[in-house]
Order: sequence, then structure tokens, then C-alpha cells
Amino acid sequence: MRFKDKVAIVTGGGSGIGEGAVRRLHREGATVVIADIRPEAAQAVADDLGDPARAIVREVNVLDNEALAALVDESAARFGRLDLLVNNAGMGSFGKVTQIDLAHWREVMAVDVESVFWASRTAIPHLEKTRGAIVNVASASGVAADYGFAAYNAAKAAVINLTRAMAIDHAPLVRVNAVSPGLTRTPLAVGLLDNPDVMAAYDGVLPMGRAAETSEIAAAIAFLGSDDASYVNGHNLVVDGGMTAHTGQPNFSRILGDASHLDQAESAFRG
Ligand SMILES: NC(=O)c1ccc[n+]([C@@H]2O[C@H](COP(=O)([O-])OP(=O)(O)OC[C@H]3O[C@@H](n4cnc5c(N)ncnc54)[C@H](O)[C@@H]3O)[C@@H](O)[C@H]2O)c1
Repeated sequence: MRFKDKVAIVTGGGSGIGEGAVRRLHREGATVVIADIRPEAAQAVADDLGDPARAIVREVNVLDNEALAALVDESAARFGRLDLLVNNAGMGSFGKVTQIDLAHWREVMAVDVESVFWASRTAIPHLEKTRGAIVNVASASGVAADYGFAAYNAAKAAVINLTRAMAIDHAPLVRVNAVSPGLTRTPLAVGLLDNPDVMAAYDGVLPMGRAAETSEIAAAIAFLGSDDASYVNGHNLVVDGGMTAHTGQPNFSRILGDASHLDQAESAFRG
């Protein structure tokens, strides 16, 4: 019960990774404000938790700065404290810089980066009073680049470095960390998960051989938001099953064989 008597806000809490975080934080005792642009999705999560006193729905579009600030301030006022802000709401984006227009670029930056800046800016004075924490949901796509993901790559990299900047500026009163998921089984990723060509191409790229479940990302969010991480600050915890641990070189073990073919493999390597 690491979050007993604590208050958390999760943006985009109505689905996917945000929903996973809501469920985990609630299970560990938190009162959770489930903030989402789709109140019906957030309400379905709250109803399923069956605990109206500790699972509260707020409709918010993180693009709306005024509404986002009101969400943070009113949540802190209603419960008398704020201990954790999980900046999770985000949008994907597909296209090279020559394929996307300025309006799309600005929307991705606003949803994925500006909302993190603005919600954090509003939350930090409340979090300073409780020695609280911020966890930003970035992405493995913020650590390196993907083909055809230019705006998303830029946005998530910005979230990771904004995390570091806030972490050093607001320590020791507020800790700020990021979680960077790899491919995770959520509605956002369903277009990839349901495409056999894409999944075939993932073969050999995902050392774990599968996408993450939302509960596995939520576990990392809960860790960073809890006192278990009391000395973890400015960290980007990549939760991608080892995907970005790979240099990108071919899978030599698979092509040349493992231990039983070591001689053959060694001579192939020497040329
Ligand atoms: N699924 C993945 O493979 C993956 C990988 C890396 C990072 N991420 C990141 O994880 C976060 C959550 O993604 P997900 O996969 O759970 O997506 P999802 O689509 O399952 O859930 C996102 C939730 O955010 C809400 N939302 C969207 N735009 C919003 C807005 N403007 N204001 C308020 N709420 C809004 C949606 O209604 C939805 O409930 C995103 O920041 C995403 O970039 C996802």
C-alpha cells in the first residue's frame, strides 16, 4: 500500500497505459483522479473499480491549458493534497517531415509536450507541499528514431529531456522521472499489433518476443511515483523488453547458429 492516503492524477487514464496506472495506484491505496478527453472511458474504469470515493472522473482535453490547470488545482483543493502527477495522455503520429504539415506538427507538440509542461507547471507548487513526484510517459521512440515517426520522435525526446530539466530544477522537493514504454498492448498500438506484416517485422526486434502488457508499464510508473524511488530523480526508465538494448546488427545467433555451431560461427565471423 505505497499510496495509502495519497492523491494522484493520471491524464489519459481512461484507456491503455493510463488505465493500467490508475488500476495499480488505486490498488496500492491512492485516491486517483482519472482525467481523460473521453469521460465515458474514464467512467467505465471508475465503475469497474467500484470505489467512487477513491476513483474520480474528470473530463479534460490536455490541449486546453485552462482546463488542465483547473483539473490540477481543483483536484488538490478537493482532496487537500496532491502527491503524484502522471502525465500520460499523448498522441501518436506517422510521417516524415516532408509528409506532415505544420498544423499536425503543432498538434503533436501540444498534446505530447506542451501538456506535460503546463500540467507540471501547475502541479509543482502543490507537489512541493507533499514532497511529491511527477512521472511522464515518454516512449522508446524518444530514445532513438523510427522510420516515418518524425514528430513523435521529436516530441517524446523533448519529454525525456524536459523530465531531466524539471528534475534538477525542482529537487529536492519534487522528484521528476519518465517511463519510456516500447510496444505495449493498448488501443493506440492496435494498428501495429493487428498488422501481421508489422508483427512479422518485429520478430527478432523484441527480445521478449511479445508486446508489453499495460500492467507492466504501470508497475514502473508506480515504482517511480512511490517512496521506493525516493532517490531516483531525472531518470528515464525504458520498459521495452530490451528492444533498444539492441545495436540493430543482424541476429548472428539465429543466422550462424548457437553453441552447437560455434566453430562455424567463429569462422564466419573471421571471414
Ligand atoms: N502503446 C504503446 O505501444 C506506447 C508505446 C510508447 C509510449 N506510449 C505512450 O503512452 C501514452 C498512453 O498511450 P496508450 O498506448 O495507453 O494510448 P491509448 O489510446 O490506449 O490511451 C490514451 C488515452 O488518452 C486519452 N487522450 C488522448 N488524447 C487526449 C487529450 N488531448 N486529452 C486528454 N486525454 C486524451 C484517450 O482518450 C485515451 O483514453 C501516450 O503518451 C503514448 O505516446 C504508448
